[in-house]
Amino acid sequence: MSNSSVDISTTLASAWFPAPIFTASGCASSGKELAQFFPLKDIGAVVTKSVMNKPRHGRPTPRMAETPSGMLNSIGLQGPGIDAFLANDVPWLLSQNARVIVSIAGETVDEYAVLARKIRSTAGISAIEVNISCPNVENRGMVFAADCDTTARVIDGVRKVIGGEIPILAKLTPDVTDIVSVARSAVDAGADGLALINTVLGMVINLDTMKPHLGGRTGGLSGPAIRPVAVRAIYQVRDAFPQIPILGMGGVASGRDALELILAGASGVSVGTASFGNPTAIISVQNELRELLAQRGFTALSQAVGYAHRNGN
Ligand SMILES: Cc1cc2nc3c(=O)[nH]c(=O)nc-3n(C[C@H](O)[C@H](O)[C@H](O)COP(=O)(O)O)c2cc1C
Repeated sequence: MSNSSVDISTTLASAWFPAPIFTASGCASSGKELAQFFPLKDIGAVVTKSVMNKPRHGRPTPRMAETPSGMLNSIGLQGPGIDAFLANDVPWLLSQNARVIVSIAGETVDEYAVLARKIRSTAGISAIEVNISCPNVENRGMVFAADCDTTARVIDGVRKVIGGEIPILAKLTPDVTDIVSVARSAVDAGADGLALINTVLGMVINLDTMKPHLGGRTGGLSGPAIRPVAVRAIYQVRDAFPQIPILGMGGVASGRDALELILAGASGVSVGTASFGNPTAIISVQNELRELLAQRGFTALSQAVGYAHRNGN
């Protein structure tokens, strides 16, 4: 079969995308840098850096460390704030005919609802990714998605504001014992889909200073090192909720990696860390994936989604 005859379009709840590979939040800002390398309309969507209500500076330096098969970052949620973002970045992305998934993050349950209210009045947004893998200042700095109750409260607040207008994806942290129960709380509270996974919490000690290397002390581990964690999380959640669409991410750098997440249950795949070393990684992942699907006799990507679950595996 010719690979051009494979239908690689996909859906995440009510949102349709002509292609299945997306940027990962925080790894391509608002897409301007990547647009020098390929037309943004050629990929599924640009998932923008998590935006907060007010402008933010992020965490102290150093904010990056290389690790075996990955990297650790403690950038924090640096950004312009939602008003500047909606006024500048979203119109620019839409002018490129890109699909836009806006990632939002808050320090309180209310901040998420405030962000959702501002997004609701902006036309052209394909979906909202609710990053609940960040600290909750109302509860000892505990990550929202580490707790079923706070997960539910954030998603419920966003859902009430958004109504049925824009699909909501809840982005979960793998740093929990039972990701299925957190996913259940998100879905019961109104998430249309799930984004799996955010970075894995880690730390590097500098052997010269003999202190934590990162200014923020801990950081998020990303890249190939976390891919098996992503595959496991996606597989477990797909098993529990076969009808809930998943946007998968974690260590994807090739079409083979993306196919692994898709077979586990992802309907779309975000590429993050791989884009830092190779800005055209998203395009090559997408082309390789199309080829791999054709080689396996699939005529549509949708046939491969969750395939690893069939026949009692
Ligand atoms: C430098 C950097 C910044 C990130 N910023 C965000 C962010 O703002 N919001 C978010 O939900 N995830 C953020 N992430 C997590 C990624 O979106 C993704 O979930 C994770 O890195 C796993 O994918 P990867 O291995 O392909 O990078 C960030 C990751 C990196 C490396």
